[in-house]
Amino acid sequence: MIKVAIPITGKEEYAAIKKVVYSGKFVSGKIVENFEKEYAKFVGTKYAVALNSGTAALHASLSSLGLKPGDEVIVPAMSFISSATAILHHGCTPIFCDVDIENYCMDPKSFEEKISKKTKAVIPVHFAGSSCNMFKIMKIAKRYKIKVIEDCSQAHGTKFNGKLVGTFGDVSCFSFYATKHMTTGEGGILCTNDKKISNFCKSFRNHGMVDRDTHKLLGYNFRMGEINAAIGRIQLKKLKRINNKRIKNSLYILKKLKKLHNEKKWFKIQEPKNNIFHTYFWCPIRIISQKINLSLVKKKLKQKGIEIRSRYKYPLYRQKVFQDLKLNGSQNYKKLNLNNAEELSGRIFGLPNHYKLTKTNLDFIIKTLGNLFEK
Ligand SMILES: Cc1ncc(COP(=O)(O)O)c(C=O)c1O
Repeated sequence: MIKVAIPITGKEEYAAIKKVVYSGKFVSGKIVENFEKEYAKFVGTKYAVALNSGTAALHASLSSLGLKPGDEVIVPAMSFISSATAILHHGCTPIFCDVDIENYCMDPKSFEEKISKKTKAVIPVHFAGSSCNMFKIMKIAKRYKIKVIEDCSQAHGTKFNGKLVGTFGDVSCFSFYATKHMTTGEGGILCTNDKKISNFCKSFRNHGMVDRDTHKLLGYNFRMGEINAAIGRIQLKKLKRINNKRIKNSLYILKKLKKLHNEKKWFKIQEPKNNIFHTYFWCPIRIISQKINLSLVKKKLKQKGIEIRSRYKYPLYRQKVFQDLKLNGSQNYKKLNLNNAEELSGRIFGLPNHYKLTKTNLDFIIKTLGNLFEK
C-alpha cells in the first residue's frame, strides 16, 4: 500500500525525547522557550507561543483579540471543524463565507460580502498547503477594521507573493498534529508581532497565571510539554527538506496529470500559481464529473494499493453542531448554500506526495489514476 502520510520522525527525535525523560523536567522549561524562539525566527515574527494543539492556538488567538459574545467572526465554509468551533466556544458567531474554486482557500469577495456591523475578526485558512490571497484579504480587513487570525495549520512554509503565511495577520496559528508538514506529536503554536498578544497568550495557556498564586484572566491548561517541543526543534530543522520533497513530488504528479485530465475529463488538478509558494499538504485533485464520487475513487485506488487524503465531506455549516444552533446573528445556517464550498466538499482529494516516495511510486500513482475510469 502506498500510504498518503508516513512518520517523519526517527533516531534524532528519539534521542531528544530521551534527554527530556532523564532530565525529569517536563513542563515550562528551556526547550519550549527555545522552540518558540526558533519557530518565530523561521516564520519571521517577533514572538511565538507554543501550545498543546492548533485548536488551542485558535482559542488563545480569539481570546487575545478581546472579542465579546455576539461578535461575528468570518471563516471559510471548507476547513477543519475547529477553525469554526473555536469561534463558538468563545461565545462569538461563526459567519461562513465561500472558498475560491481554484485554490480552495477563502474567497476575498465572499469575505467582504459577509461583513456586517458585528464583524470583529476573520480567519483565513491556508487550505492544504496553498495560500489565501492575503493581499486582498488584508486590504478588506484594514478598510473595515477587522482583526485577522491566519489559520496556517496546513501551511508551514507556504508563501504568498514571496512572504510567509503567518506574517500577514494580527496573529497566526499552526498545528503540529502527527500528519502535518512537521509534528510535535500533538501541538500547536501561534505567532505575532504584538507583545501584548504574546504576553496574553502565555498567561492564557497557563490558567491565566501571573505568578504561582495570582490568576489575572480566565485561562486553560494549553501548555506545550518539553517532550513535544524537543520533537518540534528537530522537526523544524528538517522542515525545509521535507517540504522540498513534497513540493517536487506534487509538481511532478500534477504536471503529468494535467495532460491526462484533458483526456479523461473526470478530474482536474489544482493548477500551480506563480504568486503562491504551495507546500502541498495535499497533492490536490478535484472530481469534476457528476457521474463519479469520491467514495468510489477512494475504493478503487485502495484496491490498486494507493491511499488518499479525503476530508471535508460537507461544508462546515452542514454539520449538526451548527445546524442545531439557534442564533440571532446575520446568518441562517439552515438556509446557507455557498456554491464553491458545496461543489468542492466531498469532491477533492490528496494523492500521496510524502518524502519517501520513489519515482516508480509516483509514476504508478499517475498511471493508476489516469486509468481508473474509461473516458
Ligand atoms: C485548518 C486547520 N485548523 C485547525 C486545526 C486544528 O489543529 P489541531 O488538530 O492541532 O488541534 C487543523 C488540524 O487538522 C486544521 O487542519
